[in-house]
Amino acid sequence: MKHLLSIEQLTAKEITGLLDSAAHLKLQRGREGQPLAGQTWALIFTKSSTRTRVSFEVGIRELGGFPMFLSKNDIQLGRGEPIKDTARVLGRMVHGAIIRTFAQQDVVDFSEFSKIPTINALTDDEHPCQILADLLTIQEKLGIWEGRRIAFIGDGYSNMTRSWMWAAKRLGFELVVASPPSCQPPAEFLAALDAPNVHITADPAAAAMGADVINTDVWLSMGQEDQQEKEEEFKGFQVDADLLKNAAPGHIVLHCLPAYRGKEISEEILELHADTIFQQAENRLHAQKAILVALRR
Ligand code: CP
Ligand code: NVA
Repeated sequence: MKHLLSIEQLTAKEITGLLDSAAHLKLQRGREGQPLAGQTWALIFTKSSTRTRVSFEVGIRELGGFPMFLSKNDIQLGRGEPIKDTARVLGRMVHGAIIRTFAQQDVVDFSEFSKIPTINALTDDEHPCQILADLLTIQEKLGIWEGRRIAFIGDGYSNMTRSWMWAAKRLGFELVVASPPSCQPPAEFLAALDAPNVHITADPAAAAMGADVINTDVWLSMGQEDQQEKEEEFKGFQVDADLLKNAAPGHIVLHCLPAYRGKEISEEILELHADTIFQQAENRLHAQKAILVALRR
């Protein structure tokens, strides 16, 4: 594995290997050695972040390296310097890069032109680091995902759902995505996915029925703030007590955060499942340390 650009590009073995390493690093926290000693890793972010930025900065330091945060306003990228030029400069100076941006192609181009390990820290297409943390949380809470029913209630074609659908394809668990018809994945995506274990529905109650894991995310992802009318379509898609009444006994609720209470999730359900949801947030640190260790050169 040279880069971590998407869940789509990972094999099942690579995913489970990263999860095993993350669990080990979590146990070993404070005694993990200094595998990134002497290395500088750049964080290039053109979108906001709390969890991703903090977990990568802390993780790099805990592994002995130095994180360098570069928001688009700090560097010439924000004034129009092409990503391929930024990549060729940074590739000669830093040891790895973590990129949060809009176009997946920018992350792909950066990895090719920089020739240094490159990590997708969220694009419009995928959020692979988050899904690894989510899978680790499911393992910790439920043992394993085999035989489990995982529901995703919300935008069916966001970065989160796309990464979840690829994770289901690779790992084989049952995934039901409930989404308003206008936000469902297009036929060409589903044809490329070719996963009979991934089901799409417009009925959130049907998706939640018997689900062991109920997952949600914001209705409007970063960059969609001007599409307020889209929110109207999510009426009935809030993860609340009523929606969860027929979920499997012992079910867990996941939210990648930030959460908008009263929209995609009720205050009551977020607080009832806060223990799991903030464990999920903490697991970003451990999952990303595993990624950094796997990519280190
Ligand atoms: N879940 C997540 O990626 O959070 P941030 O946007 O705060 O990094
Ligand atoms: N789908 C959300 C995830 C935030 C972590 C977004 O892209 O804004």
